[in-house]
Amino acid sequence: MKIRRFALPILIFLTGIEAGVLSAQQTQPPHLEKRGAATQLIVDGKPFLMLSGELHNSSSSSLEYMKPIWPKLEALGLNTVVTPLSWELIEPKEGSFDFALVDGLIDQARAAHERIVFLWLASWKNGMSSYAPVWVKSDVARFPRVFEHGNPVEILSPLGTATEEADARAFAALMRHIKQVDGSQHTVLMMQVENEVGVLGDSRDHSPAANRAFNSAVPEQLTSYLKTHYNELYPDLRARWDAHGDKTTGTWTAVFGDDLRTDEIFMAWNYAGYIQAVAKAGKAEYDIPMYVNTWLAGDTTPPGEFPSGCPEPWVVDVWKAAGSSLDFYSPDLYATNFEEWCRRYHRAGNPLYMPETRGLEAGAANVFYALGEEAGFGFSPFAIESEASATDPLGESYHAIESVMPLLLEHQSAGNVHGFVLGSDVDFTMNGYTLHVTRDEIFGNRAASGFGMIMAIGKDEFLGVGKGFRVTFTQRPESGPKVGIAAIDEGVFKDGKWIPARRLNGDENDQGKAWRFDSRGGIKIEKISLYRFQ
Ligand code: DGJ
Repeated sequence: MKIRRFALPILIFLTGIEAGVLSAQQTQPPHLEKRGAATQLIVDGKPFLMLSGELHNSSSSSLEYMKPIWPKLEALGLNTVVTPLSWELIEPKEGSFDFALVDGLIDQARAAHERIVFLWLASWKNGMSSYAPVWVKSDVARFPRVFEHGNPVEILSPLGTATEEADARAFAALMRHIKQVDGSQHTVLMMQVENEVGVLGDSRDHSPAANRAFNSAVPEQLTSYLKTHYNELYPDLRARWDAHGDKTTGTWTAVFGDDLRTDEIFMAWNYAGYIQAVAKAGKAEYDIPMYVNTWLAGDTTPPGEFPSGCPEPWVVDVWKAAGSSLDFYSPDLYATNFEEWCRRYHRAGNPLYMPETRGLEAGAANVFYALGEEAGFGFSPFAIESEASATDPLGESYHAIESVMPLLLEHQSAGNVHGFVLGSDVDFTMNGYTLHVTRDEIFGNRAASGFGMIMAIGKDEFLGVGKGFRVTFTQRPESGPKVGIAAIDEGVFKDGKWIPARRLNGDENDQGKAWRFDSRGGIKIEKISLYRFQ
């Protein structure tokens, strides 16, 4: 092609602009971005999935202890480690900060090619306040406690203004430091602010300050949020507000009813206000995604038997009403009805990220559902260093998902990927086909379990990853031409390039009747193409 006389300098100029735009994107701190059907974590200008694990609570308090752990986590296929970091260790004396541990953990992570999500264990961890520095714990006049049954307990009151300010100051100092040491390398991806907060042992704080607030009017900020977001409110919260007349003024019991759930809503508001303020102070220094995790309650468990005020799905809206410095709310998901809880947290305005969950066989399967079906951007079994071994099935899942990560991210965003863990059969429709997924069975041998994900990669083409399942296809509309299997190839992705291996036919596709993912011999990656006939 002939380039006109003035076109070359323009081309050079444009390339320069493009390069500038690219490097601006790459140097942006990690952040969340809505991309089509998914909200994704953007790291160094590109979407990223955290294949992660959370350490035991005390491991990361010692660099020596951590040294041998990092390589094991790398070998298991983790790209991110959820790493506790406590207030007591970084501010042992008020106003005097020690970031040697932070720097050491970041260095160790980099050497092992890992990213970090830090857990800020400060005012609360599992409801209690054991991680606050002793200068906070011992000064109950300045840093007041929650009262239960007439007595103070070892839980800092979220109504303590001085406590909130001290926690926020420490967190801001930490974020300032992380920006200094990591603002260009982005080893640290996100911050969890506190851990599983809420009052344990009673349904609410009964300290004098809390009683005064509870007997006063519900803040207008909360009721006007309920009003303006009425249609998106979590159904249980909306039903409760409706049942008491959708009042915009009145005491807590007048607006929400006279029972323990109102105590929970009151505590949610107070924890939320405090933690939003801590997060805000941190973000003012270094703005990366921040979130709060949740000790999940049973649906009928009374507040106080689980930490009352924790962002359970039915009070997430209360947390959102208190501020916008927290980017999302996450479940610590150990329950067996895994999918149900994922759906409760994956809502408009709340993407799914799982800081704590079960690992081993359960995690190896559930990760496909969380990332494939619910567009999750991270998955993180707890106690990962105890489970990290060459035989941990989680590693196999992580390695397989890592190899298809660019495709998975693209299809999360396009909304044409499905993930499943087969309790019962599942059906879904993609690209004009209904896919019927069941546990694999051949010659009377049924797979004990089945899990995986399927992406629609072309008009008549699908890519599957997983094991122990089989798929049959039905045309849509049903009256249209019938569907046959054109070809199935298993293979692997190497550096993003598809390398086919066996052509699967005969017993391996049940004589052309099904797309099979054999349960023997590990996770498979397979491509199928279909044809139509009358
Ligand atoms: C949930 C907590 O968030 C973790 O820190 C840890 O204590 C686990 N429970 C223990 O199972």
